Amino acid sequence: MAERPPVLHTIVCSTRPGRVGSAVGTWAHAAAAHGGFDARLLELADFALPVFDEPEHPRLGRYQHEHTKRWSASVASADAFVFVMPEYNYAPPPSWLNAMTYLVREWQYKPAAFVSYGALSGGMRSVQLAKQIMTTFKMVPMLEGVVLPWVAQKLENGRLAVSADTDAAARAMLDELLRWARVLPALRG
Ligand SMILES: Cc1cc2nc3c(=O)[nH]c(=O)nc-3n(C[C@H](O)[C@H](O)[C@H](O)COP(=O)(O)O)c2cc1C
Repeated sequence: MAERPPVLHTIVCSTRPGRVGSAVGTWAHAAAAHGGFDARLLELADFALPVFDEPEHPRLGRYQHEHTKRWSASVASADAFVFVMPEYNYAPPPSWLNAMTYLVREWQYKPAAFVSYGALSGGMRSVQLAKQIMTTFKMVPMLEGVVLPWVAQKLENGRLAVSADTDAAARAMLDELLRWARVLPALRG
């Protein structure tokens, strides 16, 4: 029987109305859809997660709220993630940390990469903090990633227009993510 391709979720982490993240996510998903993944594009905003409101520790998986059960099922169905990550105040947006906080086991032993964006830093400070947090979920952060400084200047009619170098960075990131996505299922219970 043929091996199924790993499921990749490209997640737009900004939930801000009018977010640039959707254009960045559309570009990142198009890049991913041409690789070895079963690639899906998600908007965190569509899950409408309130500020963390589960009574029990998420590691127990005893979720009371429908929004948590829906988010849990989505993350559990993925083998790898690309976080489309802006920088807010030198950090990941609170929507991302909130969404991470809702779950534990669903994240474990899964690889994640970042397409980051912002002003001068292109979201690099945000990603460095996010990587530190991800390790507490036993996730594996990728070295390879895409950094988009001055992202507003890269938009043409609402679509992201990037250089060949950036396309090459996306390919390198996805190649590495695929390697990890193939082997990490062996560690999951
Ligand atoms: C609350 C807030 C804080 C921000 N802080 C930073 C920052 O620290 N570094 C940076 O490069 N850009 C910062 N920006 C600019 C964002 O990178 C830019 O607005 C980007 O479009 C945000 O992503 P979004 O449009 O997908 O929400 C900030 C924007 C907001 C709204």
